[in-house]
Amino acid sequence: MNNIFPHAFQVDRMDRNKLKGHNSFVIWFTGLSGSGKSTLANMVEKELYQKGIHTFSLDGDNVRSGLNNNLGFAREDREENLRRIAEVAKLFVDSGNVVIASFISPLSSDRNFIKNIIGSKDFVEVFVNTPLEVCESRDVKGLYKKARIGEIKNFTGIDAPYEAPFSPEVEVKTDLEDAEVSVSRIVEYVKNKLEIK
Ligand code: PPS
Repeated sequence: MNNIFPHAFQVDRMDRNKLKGHNSFVIWFTGLSGSGKSTLANMVEKELYQKGIHTFSLDGDNVRSGLNNNLGFAREDREENLRRIAEVAKLFVDSGNVVIASFISPLSSDRNFIKNIIGSKDFVEVFVNTPLEVCESRDVKGLYKKARIGEIKNFTGIDAPYEAPFSPEVEVKTDLEDAEVSVSRIVEYVKNKLEIK
């Protein structure tokens, strides 16, 4: 970039990690609308917080009502939505926090792009693998109903694609497993990453 000179500050991420007593990274939940991303993210955050881990949550509807309130759901808007979120997540990782991010992030290319921004060693992908029929039968926000009658366009799983991750670090099936079990599997996975070696 022209005429831009990032400044190296004396207190860096490693200093902040030492002060907090743990490493920082991103736990990225991907899955369909209504799959249970936010519910699980919330439970994971609570459990980590209770263990004394410094966390921060970034969530679809919340970010879209502030920072990204000028973006919709067309392909290029989703890309820009996720690009900004990945950059914000990276800043929070730099600040020493464990970031818990819950976004549909529908395409493999989206998630590769996000992983590249954040850095693969700081990125834990959690696939909330809930079948479309189950998400649609829950329809907590009534959005599937609207999408089916054409009131919402580009709805993920209906008239916009969702590509399942190939090799997520953790995969949870909310229709087959209790949330508590999913949460403990996720927390177990990240335990190692928290330790400063
Ligand atoms: S994306 O694809 O990653 O940019 O989406 P995200 O930022 O996670 O936003 C998803 C939430 O937006 C609501 N919503 C829609 N989702 C999918 N498709 C369309 N067209 C749409 N319109 C609104 C919906 O509440 C999503 O929240 P979750 O928590 O996933 O149900």
